[in-house]
Amino acid sequence: MEVVICKDAAQVGAVAAAKVAQVARRVGPSVVLGVATGSSPLALYSELAALVAAGSIDLSHASAFALDEYVGLPQGHPESYAEVIRRTVTEPLGLDPSRVHVPDGFADDLALAAEQYEAAIAAAGGVDVQILGIGANGHIGFNEPTSSLSSRTRIKILTPRTRADNARFFDSPEQVPIHCLTQGLGTILDAREVVLVANGQSKADAVRAAVEGPLTAMVPASVLQLHRFATVVVDEAAAAGLTTGDFHAFIRDNKPEWQRY
Ligand code: GLP
Repeated sequence: MEVVICKDAAQVGAVAAAKVAQVARRVGPSVVLGVATGSSPLALYSELAALVAAGSIDLSHASAFALDEYVGLPQGHPESYAEVIRRTVTEPLGLDPSRVHVPDGFADDLALAAEQYEAAIAAAGGVDVQILGIGANGHIGFNEPTSSLSSRTRIKILTPRTRADNARFFDSPEQVPIHCLTQGLGTILDAREVVLVANGQSKADAVRAAVEGPLTAMVPASVLQLHRFATVVVDEAAAAGLTTGDFHAFIRDNKPEWQRY
């Protein structure tokens, strides 16, 4: 796992976007992106949009797969992840909407929708680079503590903490759905590269547990310790709990040129 500690959220966005752009250039215009909702990756998406506008990367034939979706919101609800991804990813990056996929939380048969989502990812050739945020309780996607470390896309129930954290997007806490569809931890591990971004002191415990703690279903993000190519990009506040911070700074300062991005 590579851990990059940045001075602020803007630098987190720039560094994480550079990593995603490196993959996009290597794979080419048909790159398959894994995309996350939440506030953490917004700076990353802005930076990527700037790279697209500058002609520095070509996403003209790119596909994207979102991690998760609420169940129970009316179709077109502004806080449905289908809408959030359209506003924050599809439009700013100029992706072809027909190649942007979000789990179908509106389906009558949610178990079938979950299976079909897995099949769609496989049919696209798998995810080249998965962008992740992290919940304050260590969740990735909507894989809450005690999620199976080998889980696939499925229906889950959100914890009270996650519902409270996400209540800021709704008029009242009761409006936050209880159920969701989310890619599993096994699905996420299948991505060829993973880039997790986190900012702020509220994420410090989750980042420490994910990076330095034991591999445990109680901290779903700790499963990234099993991934061959996981990059964690955090600001100083989110890195505050790491006991290995100095070591990561030393690595950054001594990186060989060929490993830089
Ligand atoms: C939601 C999403 C996650 C995201 C998390 C953190 O629960 N399902 O994918 O990582 O929120 O969001 P934020 O980045 O806004 O803190």
